[in-house]
Amino acid sequence: GLSRVVFSGIQPTGVPHLGNYAGALRQWVNLQRDEPSTTKLFYSIVDLHAITIPQPPDQLRRWRREALASLLAIGIDPERCVLFHQSSVPAHSELMWILSCTASVGYLSRMTQWKSKLNLSASSTLEDKGVGGQLKLGLFSYPVLQAADILIHRATHVPVGHDQQQHLEFARECATNFNHAYGKHLVHPQTLIPPVHRVMSLTDPASKMSKSHKAERSRILITDSPKEIKSKISSALTDSIPGISYDSTTRPGISNLLDILSIFDSQSRSSSELAKEYSDLSPRQLKEMVSDAIISGLDGIRDRYFELLGSDNSYIDKVEADGARKARESAAETMSIVREAMGM
Ligand code: ADP
Ligand code: NA
Repeated sequence: GLSRVVFSGIQPTGVPHLGNYAGALRQWVNLQRDEPSTTKLFYSIVDLHAITIPQPPDQLRRWRREALASLLAIGIDPERCVLFHQSSVPAHSELMWILSCTASVGYLSRMTQWKSKLNLSASSTLEDKGVGGQLKLGLFSYPVLQAADILIHRATHVPVGHDQQQHLEFARECATNFNHAYGKHLVHPQTLIPPVHRVMSLTDPASKMSKSHKAERSRILITDSPKEIKSKISSALTDSIPGISYDSTTRPGISNLLDILSIFDSQSRSSSELAKEYSDLSPRQLKEMVSDAIISGLDGIRDRYFELLGSDNSYIDKVEADGARKARESAAETMSIVREAMGM
């Protein structure tokens, strides 16, 4: 029977970048190779999370479709997994409310994401002057919705980056609190850590590659053309130390390029192994290898993406509708257990 139920989500906030791909999405694709009779996969475009920061409606509408097209383009197979928009399944929000009735405000207030989204320091508290007015309830309670996303599908495994581990810990806390009050009905999820380095910004390799970084040259999008990839990599910030070596503290730019090379290396060599192998190359030669590796690693994604968005919408519409139906069925099973346990 089923031994693993995997849940993972991505916000519809533009075309994914290389960091999203290497750190999360590639693993989503690889998990599809697991035996379907033992591993069930839920992949969600979490639009309700995206609105914790105000979104112009036209942009959200476009980004939702672009996110779906991106996932299909990288090889997410809607026959193999349940691929859906979070807001198509109202039970995510319903379970969130229920979990919020046993969740601790103290615990949420110590979490760091709401602080970083408001550009506050990690030591800021709810009591600090001005925070209460700026901080919207949805941004503060976001981790409760994330817990509901996971628990509603009875996920046993959640692939998350290092930055999300705190949230998974909180999801386990939500399950514990609910189970303590109403009986052991919710499943405790485990973390699946992706086996890769964080991809760093190309223009500022001390910080991670992110869609919130202002400079577009700082990131490679999975739909970039070979020309754009070459141009961004060739202008990536490196250093003037001769030769190639791996040390992410003293040589963050070069090390990031080696990490990217390692991500796409057909022989699965580590970044340090690659550094030894190519120790005599110049930065320019290394960059050429890195561009070629990215271009062949992402080959086909761009064409499939534009084909999906360019043609009529019927295929994407069908994927959306099928995914919503399957996800609603899964969520309804948990909700009937939850409601029964609570006397509703
Ligand atoms: P962003 O920082 O661009 O807003 P998200 O926070 O939406 O990206 O992250 C979506 C997923 O991609 C998460 O699982 C996250 O851990 C992963 N991820 C994001 N940026 C990187 C990166 N630079 N390197 C590796 N993984 C990343
Ligand atoms: Na982020």
